[in-house]
Amino acid sequence: MKFTKTLEQGLTRGLGLRYVLRVASKARLIPESKQLELGLVDRPHYAYGLRRAAVEAKGLGYSFVTAIEFGVAGGNGLLALEEYARRISREFTIDYQGGGFRHGSGSTGSR
Ligand SMILES: C[S@@+](CC[C@H](N)C(=O)[O-])C[C@H]1O[C@@H](n2cnc3c(N)ncnc32)[C@H](O)[C@@H]1O
Repeated sequence: MKFTKTLEQGLTRGLGLRYVLRVASKARLIPESKQLELGLVDRPHYAYGLRRAAVEAKGLGYSFVTAIEFGVAGGNGLLALEEYARRISREFTIDYQGGGFRHGSGSTGSR
């Protein structure tokens, strides 16, 4: 592997750069939309899925997306989902409806 490639991977995938970017993002030096796009949030896997869904929905002419979390537990994931959905909704002018399922207790709706 070329040195430049190694360097590039180290810089982009290493914890160091991510840490610096997270700090910059917490200090509001990085716009909200970029934070989600770059995964500079606590749950980048949630942000990625929601963002992709918005892009797909827009491309297909849909006006809203439904996001569901299976296994809500204490609800922190659902809160993160709602926060990211609010931001993405603004960025893409698309509506989100969300909710989650707890083990055996059905839906915990949100909007
Ligand atoms: C580690 S917690 C994650 C909670 C939340 N999603 C978060 O990220 O903060 C996993 C949750 O999934 C639920 N769960 C795991 N397997 C499940 C299954 N097969 N059917 C229903 N719920 C399940 C557990 O009861 C638990 O509430």
